[in-house]
Amino acid sequence: MQIDVFTLFPHWFDWFRGQRHVANALALGSSRECLDYRAHTPLSGGQVDDTPFGGGAGMVLRVDVVEAALRARYGDDPIAVRERRRVVALTPGGRVLDDAYVSELAREEHLTLLCGRYEGFDERIVEHFCSDQLSIGRYVLAGGELAAMVVCDAVLRKLPGALGHEESAHEESFSAALDGAPEYPHYTRPAEWRGWKVPEVLLSGHHARIRDWRAEQSRARGEQTGGQPEDAPGGRSGRASLP
Ligand SMILES: C[S@@+](CC[C@H](N)C(=O)[O-])C[C@H]1O[C@@H](n2cnc3c(N)ncnc32)[C@H](O)[C@@H]1O
Repeated sequence: MQIDVFTLFPHWFDWFRGQRHVANALALGSSRECLDYRAHTPLSGGQVDDTPFGGGAGMVLRVDVVEAALRARYGDDPIAVRERRRVVALTPGGRVLDDAYVSELAREEHLTLLCGRYEGFDERIVEHFCSDQLSIGRYVLAGGELAAMVVCDAVLRKLPGALGHEESAHEESFSAALDGAPEYPHYTRPAEWRGWKVPEVLLSGHHARIRDWRAEQSRARGEQTGGQPEDAPGGRSGRASLP
């Protein structure tokens, strides 16, 4: 998979490259390039944004600047580019990222992520150059960079081999293997701590019982949360209820 991230802060992504599953995915042939809008701006002094028509606070990323950046990368009119690759504008009001959306993006061979800053994009960028608007949640970040990293993290770990041998994305929260429900609880040593015991079944060595127990826990969690993270214990109201 080839992912291009357009940003005003390409160096922010340097540490992200070193994350194990990202490094694995890159070693297995995927790529993740960061492109600087400023590198191809047709405006003087590296200008990329401007004040909003109609007034108001903040600066808006210019359509001519984004067009120049996309043309420089793909050698084509951005209107044509979005016909052949998924071009995603990161916006707070977009389609909210969930596991199904991540899987959808992970099936693409080519993905372009556009990070906004300040007041966001000139709407013509979204309307004419983008196939999607993606939100990582209903809150507002200062810029699209962290959102792009969330997308890359979630998408790349879906790719075969990215997690290595010891982990698997097959049976985890929201996967088909768990019927879309949250994952069951995990425990490790010590088997008892301050009187808090690990469920007996997990120590039984009885694989069929363990499998059934985990499936039941997962199903119960799914019912409890309705699949909506904000409804989870500790979600909307803050703290999980104490035992
Ligand atoms: C300060 S925000 C702009 C907010 C915009 N004025 C609004 O009210 O919707 C700047 C940029 O951060 C990114 N961003 C902020 N919150 C985001 C979110 N929840 N999901 C995805 N991108 C986000 C977008 O790229 C956005 O253009």
